[in-house]
Order: sequence, then C-alpha cells, then structure tokens
Amino acid sequence: MELKVVAGDIAQTEADAIVVNLFEGVAQPGGATGAVDKVLDGCIASLISRGEIKGKFEEISIVHTFGRLPARIVAIVGLGNREDFGVDKIRRVTGQFCRALRKLNCHKIATVLHGAGAGNIELEASAQAITEGAVLGLYGFNRYKKPECEDVDEILLVAREGEKVSILEPVVGNGKSIAEATNLARDMGNEPANYMTPSQMAETARELANKYGLGHRVFDQEEMEAMGMGALLGVARGSSQPPKLITLTYKGDERSQEAIGFLGKGITFDSGGISIKPSEGMSEMKADMAGAASVMAALVAVAQLKPKINVTGIVPATENLPSGTALKPGDILKAMNGKTIEVISTDAEGRLILADALSYAVKQGLSPLIDLATLTGACRVALGLSYGGLFGNDQQWIGEVLKAAEASGERMWHMPMPEEYKEQIKSEIADVKNTGNRYGGAMTAALFLAEFVDHTPWVHIDIAGPRLSHKESGYMVKGATGFGVRTLVALASNEAKNREGI
Ligand code: BES
Ligand code: MN
Ligand code: ZN
Repeated sequence: MELKVVAGDIAQTEADAIVVNLFEGVAQPGGATGAVDKVLDGCIASLISRGEIKGKFEEISIVHTFGRLPARIVAIVGLGNREDFGVDKIRRVTGQFCRALRKLNCHKIATVLHGAGAGNIELEASAQAITEGAVLGLYGFNRYKKPECEDVDEILLVAREGEKVSILEPVVGNGKSIAEATNLARDMGNEPANYMTPSQMAETARELANKYGLGHRVFDQEEMEAMGMGALLGVARGSSQPPKLITLTYKGDERSQEAIGFLGKGITFDSGGISIKPSEGMSEMKADMAGAASVMAALVAVAQLKPKINVTGIVPATENLPSGTALKPGDILKAMNGKTIEVISTDAEGRLILADALSYAVKQGLSPLIDLATLTGACRVALGLSYGGLFGNDQQWIGEVLKAAEASGERMWHMPMPEEYKEQIKSEIADVKNTGNRYGGAMTAALFLAEFVDHTPWVHIDIAGPRLSHKESGYMVKGATGFGVRTLVALASNEAKNREGI
C-alpha cells in the first residue's frame, strides 16, 4: 500500500472515498468538512441537525456523492469530545475508517489531516498517526487463508498548503517503517509454532539482518553450553527443536562502544513442560515469543530511522515441551552468571531463559536494558488485556520508557518490586527458586529477573495481556498486536536525542 502526501482541496481530490471529520457537539461543520458540506449543498449539516451524525468517537457516516464530487463516497468520522482528543485517537479512528472503507471496496482513500485544525494537534504528529493507524488497522494475517476484502492500494494525506508536503513526507516515511515493523512482529506472533520454530526465528533474523544491514549472530546449543547458559538449555531439553540465542545489532553511532540492550522472550510454544498447562486455550501459547518478535521488529524499524545510537537485540528462543528428556520440577539449573535456580514449575520457563539472556547482556556491557516478555498470567489478572506491566530498578530509565510508551499509544503501568516479596523466591537448596506463591506473581517474576541484571539499569515489561487482541477495534485487529515495537523504536530515537543533548 502506498501513502502519499498531496496538497490541495480534499473536496476535489480524485479517490474512491474522501474522509473528513467532526467533533461531537458541532452543529455547523467548519474547515475541510465545511467545504465538503458546501459542495454537497449542506447535506452534512442537515444530517447533523437530524441527529444522524453526532460526531461520537469512531462513528463513521457514509454519504454517497452520485457524481457531485470526483469521489464516490464521503466518509465523515467522529472525533468525539474535543477535550479528550489526542494523537492516539487519530491512530484509532484512522484504523477504523480504513477498514470500513475497505469493506466498501475503496482502493484509493484520501483523508484530511485529522486534528490538525480544530484539534490543536501538530500537522506532523497527525500525519504520522494517520500513517500508523492506516498501516496497522488494515493489517491481516493472510498466509493460510484468502482475505475477505480486496486491499486498499493507496492513501492520500491531503494538506491544504503546498509547502507542507516536503515537511510531511519524511514523517509519513517514518510512520510507515514503524507500523510495518509492528506488522512484522504481528506476522511472527500469528505464525503457528510448527512454522515459527527457534530455527525459523534465527532464519528470519538472518534475512532481516541482510535486508536492513544489521549485524547478526546466532549461538547454537554447543556455544550456549560453553557460555554456561544452563537455565536456557534446561528449558530447551524437552524439545527436539534445537534452541537458538539470536542477536541483532544496529550501529548508529560508530564513535561509541556503548549500546543499549533490547531483550525479548522467545518461547515459540509454551505447553508448560512437565508442569503442563490445561489444554483449553493452549494454542494461544504459540505467541509466547511475542517479546522476541517485537525486539526483532523494533531493530528493523530502528535500522530504517537511523537514530545516532547503538542497539543490540537479544532473543533467547526455544520451545517448552514435556518429554522423557524434559526439565522436571525440583531440578536445579545454573545460569550464566553463576546463580543456581531450583525449578519449582517448568511452566515458569520465560524467566529461566531470560536469566541467561540478561546475564549475557550484562556481560556484554549493554546498558541500559529493557526486556519484553509474555511472562505471567498474573500480570493479565492485575492489569487486564490493554496494559503492559512495567518493572525496573532505575527511576530515570523507567521514566524514559514510560515517556516513549505514552508517545506511542502503548499503555504501560509502573508496578512495584517490593523487597519483602523476595522471600517468596528464596530456595532452601539453591540461590533462588523460579516461582513464588499465588499472590503477586508478576512481581515475584520481576524480582526473579532482577537477580540476573546486576546493577545495570533495567526495565522489564510483562506483555502477557496486550500481546494478543481478542477483538477488532481502532488500529487493532484480532491476533498478535506487535505490542512494544513502537515503544522500543521511540525509546531508541529519544535516547539518541538525549545523548546528543549532553
Ligand atoms: N507464557 C506464560 C505466561 C502467560 C500466561 C502469557 C497467559 C500469556 C497468557 C508463562 O510462561 C507462564 O506459564 N507463567 C506461569 C507462571 C507460574 C507457573 C508461576 C503463569 O502465569 O501461570
Ligand atoms: Mn510457561
Ligand atoms: Zn511462557
């Protein structure tokens, strides 16, 4: 799909559909909506007065032009209350109208820059949000089934003034890279576990590295043994698929030896292992590599946006399966940093593979660190399906991540790591055990990870809730969401800017 910025009058733009908007409570539309209303002889204003169009958020009203305008359809989208408006609402409404118009067989859609007039949003922010909303909202996973509607081929972002075009073009380019990377993470998460094996993840990483000019290295079982990654290898023992430790490196600042570390849990299928999960809903566990997918995809976007910073992505990838060789409850594993772990539940495997991945990141001198992991059902219980749970050991780094998340429209909530909960993961016979009691499971998981980060500034995002969407809404479609990609990309850009400021 192509996205273009053009200058001109939306009413006279040639397209299958043109899109204008309305805030709630506006009786007489102004701006572009007013101009379109005029050429339609007041038809929009009259629909408003009859109560058919209210401007409620995500309301989409279709008016057929029957030759009165070059476009076949005018879509009037509701922006809701002016006071509650913001950039993420532009993304959401765009996802919504793009899907609605695709159903009406529109191949070419022209839209105004929502919010840039009466909504007090900057033109650039609006253009980027529209781009992201369109690319994300029109996503479908079509590898194994034909889609129900034909694709949208072209979206025109219509600016009123010609000189804005050159300012907006790079912004649209960035938005496209970020959203397409998110869709790449979605593809990986939606891919079933019989295709998306650890070896396939490594192969995907190799292809992406070649395509986007990233450094790339995959460690196999023997190399991991040599590095002492007993925790990761312990989890991999039950599967006949070989585990992989994948690294992708982006070098945006040749003069610096420093790099920040992005880590992602890459369990390509989590059956629970010997502590096997109930069968209901187990298929969802093919997306237990969502964190890994988001990290790989974020590096792809970073490689295109080119911030002046170095980033290393680390993905421990393995299956978690029961078998005659599988890890057993009661087993003791030794992680790369030398700490011993008593395995209480083989289903608490994410923290085991991250123990080695974090130890490796620390040993590489990467700093600060951020990991994304579908770590605990408890975090879903605590925060529901929209929020990632954020944990960390460094206030400043936590603040940076929250800022990047806020700008990206990805919802995250700062959770506590109470010292006294550490009691729960004390083992009688090893340095630490891999589960606590029934209460505060997301916190004890984070406290477990903290055992492997030393003093490095680190943030952990538990994405068990937002990794999947169970409904279509805004720019979300059913299935893997690619949660975290946009925050990681914003984080890399912001960090580059912060460092330049010093
Ligand atoms: N991958 C799961 C967590 C999960 C659960 C993600 C539901 C998405 C939806 C993780 O490996 C796991 O099984 N965690 C256990 C931990 C427990 C054994 C301490 C859990 O949450 O039940
Ligand atoms: Mn598990
Ligand atoms: Zn898991």
